[in-house]
Amino acid sequence: MKTIQVKSLKQNYSILVGSGLLSKSGMLLKKVFNPGCRVMLVTQKTVPIGHRKKAEASLRKAGFQVFFYYLPQDEKAKSANELFRLVAALLKNGFERGDAIFALGGGVTGDVSGFAAAVYLRGIRYVQMPTTLLAQVDSSIGGKTAVNTPEGKNLVGAFNPPAMVISDVDTLKTLPSRELRAAMAEVIKYGVIADPKLFDFLEANAKKITAKNPKALERIVSDSARIKAGVVSRDEFETKGERMILNYGHTFGHGVEGALKYQKLVHGEAVALGMLMAAEMGVRLGLCSGNFQRRQLQLIRSFDLPVSLDRLGITTKSIFRVMAHDKKKKSGKLRFVLPERNGLVSIVTGIEDAAILSVIDSLF
Ligand SMILES: NC(=O)c1ccc[n+]([C@@H]2O[C@H](COP(=O)([O-])OP(=O)(O)OC[C@H]3O[C@@H](n4cnc5c(N)ncnc54)[C@H](O)[C@@H]3O)[C@@H](O)[C@H]2O)c1
Ligand SMILES: [Zn+2]
Repeated sequence: MKTIQVKSLKQNYSILVGSGLLSKSGMLLKKVFNPGCRVMLVTQKTVPIGHRKKAEASLRKAGFQVFFYYLPQDEKAKSANELFRLVAALLKNGFERGDAIFALGGGVTGDVSGFAAAVYLRGIRYVQMPTTLLAQVDSSIGGKTAVNTPEGKNLVGAFNPPAMVISDVDTLKTLPSRELRAAMAEVIKYGVIADPKLFDFLEANAKKITAKNPKALERIVSDSARIKAGVVSRDEFETKGERMILNYGHTFGHGVEGALKYQKLVHGEAVALGMLMAAEMGVRLGLCSGNFQRRQLQLIRSFDLPVSLDRLGITTKSIFRVMAHDKKKKSGKLRFVLPERNGLVSIVTGIEDAAILSVIDSLF
């Protein structure tokens, strides 16, 4: 098991990464919570029952009073309605300040649970028990919680750090391959922004990772968690600029997702395309080498992620329009996180529209 510490203004917390952790969760959480307390295990029916049973058995054995709460699957769970339904269940079951929410599932479960914990009785503690690769390497770390509104994604939420994160890599055995591969885009991102050794490891171990070798998964989850933990510990509220490097591949990627109206591609697949466009821009501006660009392309290919915008039914203009809209929302400035070399990126503003259009065009 690997342990990573995260600093937060509200409470520092540990991220635990390893095999077999769900079966030890009761014992691990007893150190942080009063074991007699009530626990709302927030999860989804689509989280395989084996994982739910393991966590339940371990928590009960440690003395926790376990209640189950099921969110609907998909993004529709991230709504104000669902948030208040969860709050009502907590009230009905007599949850008090010293009780807790444990989120067992992907990013959707973690985001809603963390926000409910922020507002229930003005705040109770919660734990992230992420069971998707995306949640283990990204959404469970950093305390961002939110629900969506009809106007857009993640518009209402809170910075609310968890009391602990328990990432059991064994849960990834049941994860559909497309979900695993898509989240690999975020892992590649961490290599590019901060860790050339992680990038090398991914190049050498793509097969082991896609075959879900537990040691390889533990390595990539703990490396990613360490990198994100470092960034959010130094820039918790996104006020100092550093947290922005986590958006590598996301400025272009969001343009692609928006043009597709969030259909056809999953988030990580759009991020992979975004990283390819960022590298192309990096080469054109003389920031990074063609060699880096080729290595990144090869790595993205090795995880079977998309490398072309062809056949998606979108155009350069439709992608650009979404990016221009984002720009308006961000006080007129689009910031690009561009690679310099493996493990180093920089933030560039003021790129001409024509240059952006031409880079998007290069992926068709
Ligand atoms: N808070 C943050 O900082 C942050 C960062 C990135 C993304 N997010 C959010 O995360 C969400 C996406 O998270 P996600 O990709 O984990 O999707 P998700 O939570 O919707 O999970 C995908 C599906 O897989 C199921 N599932 C979960 N674990 C499983 C397992 N081990 N085996 C099989 N199926 C399993 C889920 O029940 C769900 O149906 C988005 O809402 C996004 O906005 C938040
Ligand atoms: Zn992302």
